[in-house]
Amino acid sequence: MSNLQEKKQREQWSSRLGFVLAAAGSAIGLGNLWRFPYMAGQNGGGAFVAVYLGLLVLVGFTIMLAELTLGRYTQLNAIGAYKKISEKWAWVGALGVLAGFMILSFYSVVGGWVINYVIKALTGAFNTADMDALGGMFGSMITNPFSPIFYHAIFMILTLGIVLGGIKGGIEKYSKILMPALFVMLFAIMLRSVTLPGAMEGVKYFLVPDWNAIDGGVILAALGQVFFSLSLGMGCMVTYGSYIKKDENLLKSALSVPLLDTGAALLAGLAILPAVFAFGFDPAEGPGLVFVTLPAVFSQMPLGGLFGVAFFLLVLFAALTSAISLLEVVVAYVIDEWKWTRKKATLVIAGVIFLVGVPASLSIGPWSGFHILPNMGIFDTLDFISGKVLLPLGGMLLAIFLGWVWGMENAIKEATNDGKLNFALAGVWTILIKYIAPVAIAVVFVQGIISTFF
Ligand code: TRP
Repeated sequence: MSNLQEKKQREQWSSRLGFVLAAAGSAIGLGNLWRFPYMAGQNGGGAFVAVYLGLLVLVGFTIMLAELTLGRYTQLNAIGAYKKISEKWAWVGALGVLAGFMILSFYSVVGGWVINYVIKALTGAFNTADMDALGGMFGSMITNPFSPIFYHAIFMILTLGIVLGGIKGGIEKYSKILMPALFVMLFAIMLRSVTLPGAMEGVKYFLVPDWNAIDGGVILAALGQVFFSLSLGMGCMVTYGSYIKKDENLLKSALSVPLLDTGAALLAGLAILPAVFAFGFDPAEGPGLVFVTLPAVFSQMPLGGLFGVAFFLLVLFAALTSAISLLEVVVAYVIDEWKWTRKKATLVIAGVIFLVGVPASLSIGPWSGFHILPNMGIFDTLDFISGKVLLPLGGMLLAIFLGWVWGMENAIKEATNDGKLNFALAGVWTILIKYIAPVAIAVVFVQGIISTFF
């Protein structure tokens, strides 16, 4: 495709709010509502949260601005963006596409669980605070050999349907209403949760760090979560950045998206962990935490049944706006590089991702005895390799690329709209990108791998 056509066809977000909502829509998803609370529960609560916030400041904002800047400068997909500046770096983009592919395959399985819970909520299946019953219900749902795959298929079909329609119309329009609604509901659930008898233990667990709980594994888990939650490290924000207009303020966007995302994660943590303690559940329970705990909270709320339906619908919407961003990265690459049509690319890739998700789903139920990495089945392995390996490495390589290949003068020129915007922290950003982020990520990565496996 010639450059001219490329420019003409490329859609743009209609406003800064539109972009921020779409990027926040990508960032806010199952990573905040499902993964963050259970990761915090498994990794020492407040200790995890504290490390998460530290890494958010050091690495999160930094890499977010880097990805948006690279995307808007090149106006290209994740791989094309690298290629345009240096052919030799295209493989880093390819690594990102691979990560997106892997993430979506298990993400869609969890998306399927959410659809199942929307239906359970509609039929009043979980109007109880009996944690054993709720745990049993979740367990039998995810270990069933057939139904989770059926719902995984539905989730994938919804995702590909949106991606087929192109990027702007739908996503922007619905995000404007539904994302704020999600915040309001999370806030209400949080209020109910923290006022349950016995909830204060959980609030403390979540907010007061026990520094002794921190080890290499916790830090790598937090770093992986920063990348996962902010949709960083795989070119997703490069792609979204490529749709931003040249006169808009990237600096503000790189600040507001992570702030919104973190707000959602903290609200979700405060909605869930206090209730875990109030109902005498185990915070280290893992992926079932949200699905088991929140129904119990709803049962203690006036109109809880209705609330449950609305909430799981909003979770589903948040998951979809994230899933489309994952699929879009892979699709945009195949369209640009393999010259496929959008339709063919979307259908084939979604189909393959669905197929990879099937064994991931089975690995939780019938195949749970089968491990790929020590103690990790297919689902956990996909999560581990994408979240804790590919995303951090992708982020590290991006930082090195900006700092040492493309060059910070060029990056700052783009980020400030050719010097028109005032960027007081440009010097700090430079140091973070060139030195601190790559070194920090490398250290955390090596330490984390050592303490995970040895
Ligand atoms: N950030 C999303 C979430 O929290 C998931 C996601 C979407 C993602 N796009 C991504 C994760 C790109 C990593 C990279 O649910």
